[in-house]
Amino acid sequence: MDFTDKLTTIKNDLYAKKPSRINHIEGVAECALELKRRHFPEIPDFKILQAAYMHDFTKEYDIQAHIEILNKYNMPLDGYEEITPKLLHSKSAYAIAAYEYKLDEDVCLAVLYHTTGRENMTPLEKIIYLADYIEKNRTYVTCTDVRDTYELLVEKQHKKPMEEAILYSLDLTIGELIEKKLIIHKDTIQARNYLIKEGI
Ligand SMILES: [Fe+2]
Ligand SMILES: [Fe+2]
Repeated sequence: MDFTDKLTTIKNDLYAKKPSRINHIEGVAECALELKRRHFPEIPDFKILQAAYMHDFTKEYDIQAHIEILNKYNMPLDGYEEITPKLLHSKSAYAIAAYEYKLDEDVCLAVLYHTTGRENMTPLEKIIYLADYIEKNRTYVTCTDVRDTYELLVEKQHKKPMEEAILYSLDLTIGELIEKKLIIHKDTIQARNYLIKEGI
């Protein structure tokens, strides 16, 4: 199966499940393509689209369904996922992307890190992470705030508007987690520290 067939299969499988968040998923695909066009035009469209359509592939599964997928592929939980099951969908979607659709590793990793971010993210990982946060259907106040900030940075021709917007989103996410007395995944902390060290 070539990459266009794979994308068609992913989309068919996704639509067959009738996900309630399909507008969001399509919004991520559209926004990710625009981020790529502006900042990383060398990335092939199919990688952007495969990662966008896969990123929330298992979002509506219950905890048991996530655990079954992870057990099937020998993927242990990381000590955070047990406490914050919301994180499980990134990992089970990664497993399906990697082992069932056999997508390229860089695409699978963009799916895996779309929720937490991580240290030294690749351009594809940054695109999917940020598109997930700022796509047009997001109405949550922190999302619109990051979207406006990103657009303003682009307008002002800031050197690294995506990285600056990602750092801002990480700050807001971490702030919210602290406020709600929730655990912060180590990858989220490391993603932020890395950007600071990079001088963003
Ligand atoms: Fe997600
Ligand atoms: Fe999402």
